[in-house]
Amino acid sequence: MNASSPSPAQNQASTTTLYGGVTTRRVTVRDLAAAKQRGEKWSMLTAYDALTAGVFDEAGTPVLLVGDSAGNCHLGYETTVPVTMDQMVMLAGAVVRGTKRAMIVADLPFGSYQESPAQAMHNAVRLMKDAGVGAVKLEGGERSARSIELLVEAGIPVMAHIGLTPQSVHALGGYPVQGRGDEAAHQLLRDAKAVQQAGAFAVVLEAVPAELAKQVTEQLTVPTVGIGAGVDCDAQVLVWTDFAGMTAGRVPKFVKQYANLRAVLGDAARAFAEDVRGDAFPAPEHTFH
Ligand code: KIV
Repeated sequence: MNASSPSPAQNQASTTTLYGGVTTRRVTVRDLAAAKQRGEKWSMLTAYDALTAGVFDEAGTPVLLVGDSAGNCHLGYETTVPVTMDQMVMLAGAVVRGTKRAMIVADLPFGSYQESPAQAMHNAVRLMKDAGVGAVKLEGGERSARSIELLVEAGIPVMAHIGLTPQSVHALGGYPVQGRGDEAAHQLLRDAKAVQQAGAFAVVLEAVPAELAKQVTEQLTVPTVGIGAGVDCDAQVLVWTDFAGMTAGRVPKFVKQYANLRAVLGDAARAFAEDVRGDAFPAPEHTFH
């Protein structure tokens, strides 16, 4: 079999749906490209550990992102900036081990690719070899195009991330909506086209007006993955701690909470403490004699 004759499993890509269709192997970039052709939308969630990733994998989430949002959502930092390559390799390895069929994408953290395309290559290879992920994600449009090109040439699938890029939080002065106004909108379109041209297989659009995200989605042949970018993107991503109601305090406007795990776990911890105080736990059925 040569490069122009795909295996039967690869052939599945154009005919099966992502939800319930791809069950016996991992989702690939070909499946995502075919989903865009069919107009099938898909979801992506972040995951930072094997157990949670396993739950989402069993639920059929086709793509899991080991985001550097682990910095503020898992590791206790205020931003994504302090996250290191060693931390990403450890978290991504756990997510790969906890899953069977989702495509696992891992973020290149701040400082691991901005220096040069060679640095991007070195660290992307670490994520592929040491953690076993199927793809990497990096922030930046035109400014990151050369690095994307180099990784793609080397056989590393790259998801790009434009619009609001949280690793630039200090330069942006917070997390403002991007692409507002003619010049900013034109730049966003140029960024989207530059990363597609460089070979990115998908593009995250974060905190972008819905009308602009729709325009980008229509003009790109690769899927767009929205977060705060309206309903017309090809896919949607949410940070799992936000979507499951684990995050303390306010969540961004674009988050929908699908559960309230913080309240559920808090209630469980209070009930446990109460049982211990009142000798209701351990009960006879939890006790050895
Ligand atoms: O790190 C992350 O979780 C992300 C998503 C917000 C897209 O980049």
